[in-house]
Amino acid sequence: MSSSSIPAGAAAAVLQPSEPVPDHAVSVQGPNFENDLSLQDFLRSYERIGFQANSLGKAIDIVNKMRTWRLSDEPVSADESDDYTDPEVRARTKCNIFLGYTSNLISSGLREIILYLVKHKHVAAIVTTAGGIEEDFIKCLGKTYLADFNLDGAELRKKGMNRIGNLVVPNDNYCKFEDWLLPILDQMLKEQQSTGTVWTPSSFIRRLGKEINHEESVYYWAYKNDIPVFCPALTDGSLGDMIYFHSFRTPGLIIDIVGDIRALNEHARKSKKAGMIILGGGVCKHQIANAMLIRNGADYSVYINTGQEFDGSDSGARPDEAVSWGKIRAGAESVKVFADATLVFPMLVAATFAQDKTQH
Ligand SMILES: NC(=O)c1ccc[n+]([C@@H]2O[C@H](COP(=O)([O-])OP(=O)(O)OC[C@H]3O[C@@H](n4cnc5c(N)ncnc54)[C@H](O)[C@@H]3O)[C@@H](O)[C@H]2O)c1
Repeated sequence: MSSSSIPAGAAAAVLQPSEPVPDHAVSVQGPNFENDLSLQDFLRSYERIGFQANSLGKAIDIVNKMRTWRLSDEPVSADESDDYTDPEVRARTKCNIFLGYTSNLISSGLREIILYLVKHKHVAAIVTTAGGIEEDFIKCLGKTYLADFNLDGAELRKKGMNRIGNLVVPNDNYCKFEDWLLPILDQMLKEQQSTGTVWTPSSFIRRLGKEINHEESVYYWAYKNDIPVFCPALTDGSLGDMIYFHSFRTPGLIIDIVGDIRALNEHARKSKKAGMIILGGGVCKHQIANAMLIRNGADYSVYINTGQEFDGSDSGARPDEAVSWGKIRAGAESVKVFADATLVFPMLVAATFAQDKTQH
């Protein structure tokens, strides 16, 4: 072998020929800012950028399918109930979208996006955690401020400032919340004792939505639009502190979780089509997925979360794990976007539910 000739084995290894690329293969391409790009063009460009941008593109596609599906798109099945054979009823019957989010997202500016979805009846039910309920009402009583992840905890404590990531909430807001909430708890206890009302977390939240009577509240709109809000762990937050104090002052208030698990599961079971949009993990993710099991799995699923699966957590589990449990139907369309929901959800909503508002 002369010193200038390429070693045969190395050349074969490096220059291995490819099989032909299938006709349906899509090439990678980013947005071209040399052209005028509308917001919608820009958002559409994500599906060809790759990595998580690609997953956002897929999430946009799946959510658009959830939004536009109607029962009339499908033939009448042999076992269809009489209630669903009328073509007009079929044309009106939509996919029920179950929206879940962690508490911190109501503390963030995603609250206003969630409010938009609830106000315009784009979702059929919500599941969140206690902070996701109370922070909405607290924001009607006082503001949450932008701050910094690195603020000193002990200093903040001295100043009566509570940190949520890079946001802070003055402690006074929680005092205002207490002043607002305690008389409502008194009234709810009276109703329980005088009329036998059985309160559940969802009827409790509905009542607070009515009482706040404030158009900036997500749960005011949920009350107005009759959208149920489930919070199985209602006491794990300031609401729990208030219920604890109330139990000394005026004992006796009972909140029943049985009524709610039945209501949520029945809502899922009766959905002709069901989609999940879940931001973050923990209770809000699993409680919706578990309700989907009752109907043999969700038809469409979009997860946006930062959780990882190597630790076996449900928070980090990809959609395929839910398929194994029957919480997502085999063959159903699903995607997990590995990202902070505060970055991704505004884009997802702009490209789907709020498309008409973002044409230019
Ligand atoms: N503002 C608050 O965050 C707040 C206030 C009061 C009470 N709490 C209580 O703390 C407990 C735990 O909160 P939780 O269950 O709502 O969720 P969490 O904050 O524990 O988050 C659960 C998982 O969701 C994912 N996640 C969280 N934020 C995300 C984001 N921005 N983008 C993508 N993924 C994200 C992460 O994987 C995280 O591990 C609850 O019981 C809640 O009531 C929280």
